[in-house]
Amino acid sequence: MKQLLGLIGHPVKHSLSPWIHSKFLEKSNIEGMYTVFDISENELKDQLNKLRQKDIRGFNVTIPYKQKIIPLLDGLDQTAKEIGAVNTVSNINGKLIGFNTDGIGYLRSLQKEYPETLANKDIRILLIGAGGAARGIYYILNQSGYQSIDIANRTYKNAKSITSLKSSKVKSSILTLEEASELLGSYDLIIQTTNVGMKPNEALAPIRTSWINDATIVSDIIYQPIWTKLLQEAADRGARIHHGHTMLLYQASYSFEIWFGQSPLLEDMDTQLKQLLEG
Ligand code: ATR
Repeated sequence: MKQLLGLIGHPVKHSLSPWIHSKFLEKSNIEGMYTVFDISENELKDQLNKLRQKDIRGFNVTIPYKQKIIPLLDGLDQTAKEIGAVNTVSNINGKLIGFNTDGIGYLRSLQKEYPETLANKDIRILLIGAGGAARGIYYILNQSGYQSIDIANRTYKNAKSITSLKSSKVKSSILTLEEASELLGSYDLIIQTTNVGMKPNEALAPIRTSWINDATIVSDIIYQPIWTKLLQEAADRGARIHHGHTMLLYQASYSFEIWFGQSPLLEDMDTQLKQLLEG
């Protein structure tokens, strides 16, 4: 039977998900199709019922529905419930169940590139930004046993709200972006999750980088451009770099795993995706 997959959002023009999931299907020898559904908000409920009737295997969810879809679903897994956002839905015997693969996708991509981050849970982590993506990453880092995760954000209350996800063992301070800029040298891992520096605003960075040192891993979850201003400056200071397109790949791979119970072979997809993004 042909497996139907898709993505819902509005607007959804330049998504890379169809490319990624078509490759996954091919590599896994599964006959299937991944379709983009651009759905306006007043149609969301009806369209979800149609997708259910079409016997869709599963779909991804993007802006602006990651939160709005929650009351329309039949259930949520624990991670999606705690994070309060859904980016993956699986059709399990006619019931639409919501998942969130962003945080695990980020962590797997990091640990693949820097395996030492898997073993050492005492590293000092700075999360820049306190939006939906930061929330997912913070939750998973916390769940995975990392002990020290500070948050730097423009708006204090958004950062504060993320720390409500923390277990008692985790130490978290909330900083301004200015304070964080001064303290960058004291972190082992810096994770940039804001949209500052994303095309067409490539000339911007959310923090000053002068204190980054060469022992630090600097991650940016932005993948357009692949080399954000933050990553360029960090590389100039000798820091170790972790690019955003790898999170995109690993969160997609985890969605695929939820739908089919098997992981796709990623092989050279990281390089291929990078080339695609670099045009
Ligand atoms: P996402 O789902 O991609 O995480 P989001 O939920 O809209 O997106 O979150 C965007 C993040 O980028 C927030 O942390 C936001 O800061 P605030 O909490 O202060 O709103 C941050 N952000 C957006 N524009 C920014 C800017 N010009 N300077 C600093 N931070 C910015």
